[in-house]
Amino acid sequence: MSVEQADDGLETQAKKRIIWLSQEIRSADALYYQDDNPALSDADYDALRRELISLETEFPHLIRKDSPTQSVGVKPAGKFGKVKHSVPMLSLDNAFSDEDVTDFCARVKRFLSLPETDVLGFTAEPKIDGLSAALRYENGKFVKGATRGDGQVGEDITANLATLDTVPKHLTGEGWPEVVEIRGEVYIGHDEFDTMNVAQVAAGKAEYKNPRNAAAGSLRQIDPSVTASRPLKFFAYAWGEVSEPFAETQMQAVERMAEWGFDVNPQMRRHESARAMVAHYTEILNARAGLGYDIDGVVYKVDALGLQDRLGFVSRAPRWAIAHKFPAEKAVTTVEDIDIQVGRTGSLTPVARLTPITVGGVVVSNATLHNADEIARLGVKVGDSVEIQRAGDVIPQVLRVVEPAQGEAFTFPTQCPVCAAPVSSDVDEKTGRHDVVRRCTNGLSCPAQAVQALVHFVSRQVFDIDGLGERQIEAFYEKGLIKEPADIFTIRARNAEIKLETWEGFGETSAAKLFDAIDARRTIPFDRVLYSLGIRHVGRTNSRLIAQHFIQWDKFWNAVPELQNPVSDPYMSLLGIDGMGQAALGSLARFFSSESNHKIVENLVEQLNIEDAEAPTPDSPVAGKTVVFTGKLELFSRDEAKARAQSLGAKVSGSVSRKTDYLVAGPGAGSKLKKAEAAGVKVLTESEWLTLIG
Ligand code: IVH
Repeated sequence: MSVEQADDGLETQAKKRIIWLSQEIRSADALYYQDDNPALSDADYDALRRELISLETEFPHLIRKDSPTQSVGVKPAGKFGKVKHSVPMLSLDNAFSDEDVTDFCARVKRFLSLPETDVLGFTAEPKIDGLSAALRYENGKFVKGATRGDGQVGEDITANLATLDTVPKHLTGEGWPEVVEIRGEVYIGHDEFDTMNVAQVAAGKAEYKNPRNAAAGSLRQIDPSVTASRPLKFFAYAWGEVSEPFAETQMQAVERMAEWGFDVNPQMRRHESARAMVAHYTEILNARAGLGYDIDGVVYKVDALGLQDRLGFVSRAPRWAIAHKFPAEKAVTTVEDIDIQVGRTGSLTPVARLTPITVGGVVVSNATLHNADEIARLGVKVGDSVEIQRAGDVIPQVLRVVEPAQGEAFTFPTQCPVCAAPVSSDVDEKTGRHDVVRRCTNGLSCPAQAVQALVHFVSRQVFDIDGLGERQIEAFYEKGLIKEPADIFTIRARNAEIKLETWEGFGETSAAKLFDAIDARRTIPFDRVLYSLGIRHVGRTNSRLIAQHFIQWDKFWNAVPELQNPVSDPYMSLLGIDGMGQAALGSLARFFSSESNHKIVENLVEQLNIEDAEAPTPDSPVAGKTVVFTGKLELFSRDEAKARAQSLGAKVSGSVSRKTDYLVAGPGAGSKLKKAEAAGVKVLTESEWLTLIG
């Protein structure tokens, strides 16, 4: 085998892994941001993200537009009005070790072309484990409050945020800009959380899992008087849109916010070395239990705002800040049983049922075992005493067996535990290796898969049908009333037979409400219909890309038969979309090759009025253009110039070709300049380029 072939194999593997990682991260994001119901531990999630980032760094041309590293979270899902963030609300990159912090400081200096020996100021403050919110003030008056949502568009929760004592209705002091958007974290303190749970128990209701979940639920109440009754608080630590600058440093900005009436965190300090930052981290970690609210790390930020501006963002996170995460909390307990859950795509996930134990203030009784390989790696079986780990408010994981029990090793089922169909795992065409995930082969004929597919269909990000959740879907499915999505839309017409109003848990009003909620969703955007089908690898982002490509559902539908042919025009043109890959297209084609799937979609579409998609519009003079930088740049480091161009939607390439739109040439430019001139590529000086991008 030649070196080139080996590289090719590596690249193919990397591509597959990138697709898989992206999907895992996206679905975890959806559960975390939308359902307040995280499926992965922070550590697991972070490991996936780190692996993806490292593969993307190694193979930058494999970075997909829809990669989770290129965006934050998922879109908000209805109920509240939308608020477009004029300055995106971003996330933070993570540091897990002291070394990561040293690297961060060095990276910042390198980007700014500063010598390593230069002293640079950084602030350090606790990372509050709550929910971020943006508060807009006009002439000092609180006018709008929003959630982060996907970072671009959030939800309008003005009325709810206005009920918080720590959200000033009018700014105090003086000198605030005419327009200023203050950002920070909404959270619930430990004592208040305990009181809330005592009241829940007294009212015969379920306790809240943790303060973050309680805060999330309290903030998204339709009725602001419910929010008002909850002990929510707000810490200010950042800002978005401002009509004029109001500080020169991060420290000063936070001092101004305190003058204007906001709570700011008293643990915030300024440091001038990675060593001092890490020492402060240790101090905060030690003080953690006594702070009175949950924190999950320490955030470091470059103090000088002028430098923050120059550092800018890498798609989802600023280059000038990093979150140094705390280690996850651990405990030892016993595995009482190992259950297998069957997911929407037939995946069999083993779950350890544990003797309940409190880890970091939360009672844990289940932990994911991920897949058969993980069980084998851990060597875990029923009766074992195991160490578990819980980070944040996510499903805990088993780390290791502490003391094995007597008895047989766990045997992974070869039949689906729900429908008894055989289990199989995908085989990688190139490597011949089996995927670690085992799946039930019965498709929608497996009741577990069918129910999960329907649950996905009605879920918040998809058809978002109020009053139709897992419990109701299961009941309808069991009674044979809803077998496929189209059946949901014919329930009202069939109600003379069904008599939903006589069912336990339903009355005249709730039945009528459900029918109205269903009817309200008959008009629905193209991308949601595609996403609703639950096709593997065709998630939200790919559905949107496909919808934006075809614009009209009918055009897509006419192209469907041709998707079976990988050299057909529709197939090739979809493959040409930035961000679409073979896996998604292959999966789409496979889905529609089944006659019963085809029929299911046909039946559904008959019930709907599908809205056209909107074509994306470029919004900067260099969006979609290809730029090459050459020679010595005098105003910026190469990284900074490249980052600026990319943030404006340009593609930055290392070599000149006929596809190059601009060559930005500094002093000392050589062969690239000659090649560009020969190819008729537009050549700009650094300052001409700056004028062009404004
Ligand atoms: S700064 C542009 N500071 O952590 C970045 N974020 O994982 C602005 N968070 O979305 C964020 N405490 O919700 C910042 N002291 C703090 C924070 C903090 C909590 C949250 C915030 C952010 C998330 C990122």
